[in-house]
Formats: sequence, structure tokens, C-alpha cells
Amino acid sequence: MGYVYFMKKIKSNYPINNYLNNHALNKAVSFHMPGHMNGKGILSKYKKNMGSYDITEIVGADNFHEASGIIKESLQKISTKIHCDQSLYLLNGTTSGILALMKYVSLKKGKILIPRDAHQSVINGCILFNTEVVFSNIETHKKYGIPNPLSLLQIKHSLQKHHNISYVLITSPTYYGFVSDIKRISEYLHEKGIVLFVDQAHGSHFIHNEHLPESAIRQGTDVVVESLHKTQNCLTQSAIIHGNNKMVDLALLMDIVKSLTTTSPSYLLMSLMEQALLSNYHKAYNKLFKTINFFIKNCPFPVCETDDITRIIIDVSKAKLTGNEIADLLHKKNIDIEMASLTHLVLITTPNHRKKDFVLLLNQLNNLEKGKNKAILAYPTFEPVQVIDIKKAKIMPTKTIQLNKAIGKICGTIIVPYPPGIPLLYYGEEISQLHIDYITLILRSGQAVMGLDSNYIKIIEV
Ligand SMILES: Cc1ncc(COP(=O)(O)O)c(C=O)c1O
Repeated sequence: MGYVYFMKKIKSNYPINNYLNNHALNKAVSFHMPGHMNGKGILSKYKKNMGSYDITEIVGADNFHEASGIIKESLQKISTKIHCDQSLYLLNGTTSGILALMKYVSLKKGKILIPRDAHQSVINGCILFNTEVVFSNIETHKKYGIPNPLSLLQIKHSLQKHHNISYVLITSPTYYGFVSDIKRISEYLHEKGIVLFVDQAHGSHFIHNEHLPESAIRQGTDVVVESLHKTQNCLTQSAIIHGNNKMVDLALLMDIVKSLTTTSPSYLLMSLMEQALLSNYHKAYNKLFKTINFFIKNCPFPVCETDDITRIIIDVSKAKLTGNEIADLLHKKNIDIEMASLTHLVLITTPNHRKKDFVLLLNQLNNLEKGKNKAILAYPTFEPVQVIDIKKAKIMPTKTIQLNKAIGKICGTIIVPYPPGIPLLYYGEEISQLHIDYITLILRSGQAVMGLDSNYIKIIEV
């Protein structure tokens, strides 16, 4: 995010350590992942014993790949608490769980429907494992202009358009804290014999309080993957996969997960995950909700009403500065947030935050001048024209040409305007006059477009 600004400066010969030392010395107020918030949520026993907790498969410890001892027991306790048939730690983030799901679909010769703004690991998995994939369009929130989660209506529409779909993957919650109606979607899909996967990367904390949305696995989802490092007291890369047997061959799926997992599993990561999932944080969340409500009441800019109250989205479209400029300014004041776009700030909050953290943020936001409303261009829903299969297109040679010469050519990259962060073009799709007109408009309005090199775009060389 922006440039690196440190209040205190230490110099050493070790570039990464140099950065980390300065970061640690700064003691910034963090509203971003990982959820432990600069170690605040890590219990002192972990800090004190980090070296001796960092074992791998020594005598007496279990074997991740054929668990029969402590790992098995730990996972069984978690499955019971989560209400699912089987869980397995993911030691390389939700990414590895999603890759395993895409391999599973491919082995089962299935076709999967995914939202157009699915995480990049979904697309990468399809490309790596030659998984047949189709997209469902995503709508933007009428009031906030940010992506909505996939709805039952959109799924029904997509199933009418694309035949032989046997799997659907939904991102719920979205990055912006909105959830799909998983219960109705899973009932509808199951009646049709379709399997539901939910990417709950941002919602592993939902189990801790009834005022948070209900966890997808408890609403009939067949397989859920979630990142514990994003919102809980776990180290980066910590994630877990939960599954139900009824419609999925869990033995095969978990075998795939294991084959994508290191043979040196980190017991430190697993132990922190077990602690995060099996502990009771109910009261801690109640306290956090009160603090968040205090923040919302006192925030000089509107806060979007998300389904997950802990994901704070501040609408700064009426601030004089852009969201990105505000994020840079906050960084200079030693406050780091999760993400900023032209019009929004995204904050991750956890029970590790104290009221004083929010007060510091409020003080800075209160100093900001109001300005002209930054109008966001309505996000168009183009019907994509896939000329070359996405999996083939990704590995074809590309060349870079000027935007205005790209009409009728085939896209050799992914083009994503921010906001809303929904891909406008994918590898292998035809670039139309409408695309170019829209990209030109958003560039003029000051919004960011990922995948472009100033006014140049990558096309497939044919
Ligand atoms: C929606 C979504 N899914 C999956 C992932 C991947 O998670 P991880 O970083 O744990 O691999 C992310 C990460 O940003 C995400 O936002």
C-alpha cells in the first residue's frame, strides 16, 4: 500500500529484517490482516516458546499425512464444533484448499460455475488442472458500488445459460463483508444434484458469535475453505478445509489436499489454529461490537452496512482526498488499513482492537476536509465473449498494444477496475469497443485499472 514511511529508522544489511524491525518499532495501529494485529492476539506461551513449538514430525508427534494421534484428535474436535464430517488444516492458505477443490472437480470430470470476481487461486486452479469453468456475472451494490455476493437468482440464471454444471463455488463473505443466502442456495443446488463449495476465506471467525453471519458449513455447504490468518489469532498462511460426505468423496478430496501439502507441516501454525477455533471468543466479540458501534456513530463519513459488522467499509466518496490518498496519510500517522480504493476504505477489526485504536482513527478522519462527491461510474455487465478457452489463453504468447488499437483483439491478461474489483476482461475474451470506451472513462475519472500498462493492454498474439 503506497510507499513505505517509517517514523523511526533502523538500517541493517538484511533487507527483510530491516523492514520488519522498523515495522515493529513503529507500533502502528493496524486494521489489516493478519488478525492477530501485530502479535497482540498471540498468547504469551506461543511468543515465549516459538522455537520449541516449531517442531515437525518428531517421535511422539503425529503424522499430518496419516494422522492417528494429536492431529487427528485436534481435527475431530474442530469438526464437532463446526458441525461437519471432516476438517483438515491447510498450511499454505485457503489458496491450497481451493487448488485442491479445482483438482477434485477436474478428476471428477465436472464443470464448475464460479463468480466473475472469484479469487485468483480459483482461476489458477482451473488453469493448472484443466478444470472446466464458467463464470456467473456479479452485480454491484446499488448504494455502495462494491461487488455483491452471488445470489440465488444469478445462480439460477447461470444454470439456465450453462448446461451440465455439477459444482458451484461462491465467495461468501465477500472481501467487503457481504454474505450470500447459503441456506437457500445449498437447498436449491442439492435438489439438482449440484455440489456447493464456499470460499469463506474472510469468515473463519463467524463461529464465535451469533451476531455474525452463520458459518456456511452449518447451512448445508458441502465444502468450505477459510483463512484463519485473515481474521483470527493465527499466523499468516493458516487456513482450514471443512467438508460433508453426502455429496463429496472426502477421502479423495483430503488426499488431494495432502498431496499439495508440505511433508514438514508446522505444528506452530496448527496449534494456533486449534486454539483459535476451539476457544470461546463470544464475550470478546460482544465487546468489539460495542466499540464498532461507537466508531460508526462518530465516523464523519458513512460506514456501509455490511453483513459482517467486523469488516468496516468507510465510504469516502465525499472526502476531498481519494481513498488511496487517505490511506497514505493514515500510514504517515502510524495507522495502517487493509485496503483503499478511490471511494472506500476497508478495515479488518478483531477483538484485539481497543477503543483507543478507533479513537486514533476517528481523530484522523475528523481532520479530513470534505470535497466534491467522487461519482463512481456504474459498472456495466457485458456478456463476455470467450474466443479462446481461458486455460489455453493463459499460456499463449502475448504482445502489448495501445488500448485504442485493441478492439476486436483477444485479451491476454485480466483487466480489473477498482472499484468495484470485478474483472472486466479475462484471458481469451474478445475486447470490444464497449470495453475500451468504459476503460477510457474510468481512467479519466481517476479510478485504478489493474492489468493495464498505462494506456497499453496485453493481447494474445495470433
Ligand atoms: C476471497 C478469497 N479467497 C481466497 C483467498 C486466498 O487466501 P490465502 O491468502 O489464505 O491463501 C483470498 C485472499 O486474499 C481471498 O480474498
